[in-house]
Amino acid sequence: MDYPDNLFLTIDESLAHKKIVARMDINASVNAQGTPTDTARIDAALSVLSELSGRQARVVVLAHFGEKGESLEHIASFMKERIANFSFLKSIDRSTIEKAVNTMQDGEILLLENVRMFPGETENEDGLARFFASLGNIFVNDAFPVSHREHASVCGVTKHVKSFFGPIMRHELTQLSKALTPEFPCLLILGGAKLSTKLPLIEIYLKKGCFVYVGGAMVHNIIKEKGYEIGESLYDKDYKVSDYVLTSDKLLIPTDVILNDHSTAGVKSVPKTKKIYDCGPKTIATLREVIGRCHTVIMNGPVGYYEGGFDEGTSSLLSLMEKGASLTSIIGGGDTLTVYNSMAKKPKLSFVSLGGGAMLDFLKDGTLPGLRAVVKNHDRKA
Ligand code: 3PG
Repeated sequence: MDYPDNLFLTIDESLAHKKIVARMDINASVNAQGTPTDTARIDAALSVLSELSGRQARVVVLAHFGEKGESLEHIASFMKERIANFSFLKSIDRSTIEKAVNTMQDGEILLLENVRMFPGETENEDGLARFFASLGNIFVNDAFPVSHREHASVCGVTKHVKSFFGPIMRHELTQLSKALTPEFPCLLILGGAKLSTKLPLIEIYLKKGCFVYVGGAMVHNIIKEKGYEIGESLYDKDYKVSDYVLTSDKLLIPTDVILNDHSTAGVKSVPKTKKIYDCGPKTIATLREVIGRCHTVIMNGPVGYYEGGFDEGTSSLLSLMEKGASLTSIIGGGDTLTVYNSMAKKPKLSFVSLGGGAMLDFLKDGTLPGLRAVVKNHDRKA
């Protein structure tokens, strides 16, 4: 699906005095002091907010944080040190918010408390969506990483105010379209544990004619269903891999593996008492050869148990993905980025998506609930 230009907010002098409700994604991992450890999303948001503020717009920022709905206060302090005219309102009381918004001056940015602390956010409750919309003259969705969520601050809000996409979204859509309609030969590398969420994508990319390498814990199901021993390795016992995937000649799986005791074994000879923790050197050699022939390589999810120190497979593959005149390389997903950011010698890649689950969902068919919502409601009167 193409997204026409008029859906994207033009950031110019016409925004002066306007109240913009901007959904951003500043969700980040934090250390024990609450300081973000990966600031890519926050940096991107700060750059857009400072442009909007420079155009004298008044910006009300909607954002979420963490899984349990913790306060955004630490992220807010981090942002406040890096941008002028920024404040944070630690309240979910509607009249307190309205008062604060009504006294905003041109160029001010007001970050509201974690939207997931507002009852109704994750249920996409219309009253809450209406309230968020009432805080501005226009709504901007610049939060690609959360646009797979049908939440009030992402989807519902667009029903009540003229809605646009922002520059971060434009960049994601432009870059990810190269993964959606890849130049061939193409390799998709998927890892991590959740086979059920990634299986549809495996099928879609195989049907597109791409090679798909499956690693991480989710390949254990495939190895087992091919009839080989996986020892005590993690696998999803409720999940069945389709025959289409199992028999595809474009499906690539490890030929050798690294076990929990750091020894190497062929994939057909994993001992009953051992666990598979990473792919082995022969597998990497095969993938080096495949990547060497590819024009597009996409990766989402680590291919080994990197949290336990088994990051060799993932970092080797990332190194092989160094972009070149004939190679477009795209990665995404929080765990993949953790490995990438920890590499002493980071390869230059064509694009690092800010999305994790959103990237995976987008690659299925080029759309997401948050994208459809803006497309559907863009023509609403301001
Ligand atoms: C992410 O971290 O992938 C996005 O911020 C979405 O977060 P969620 O998975 O908690 O919805």
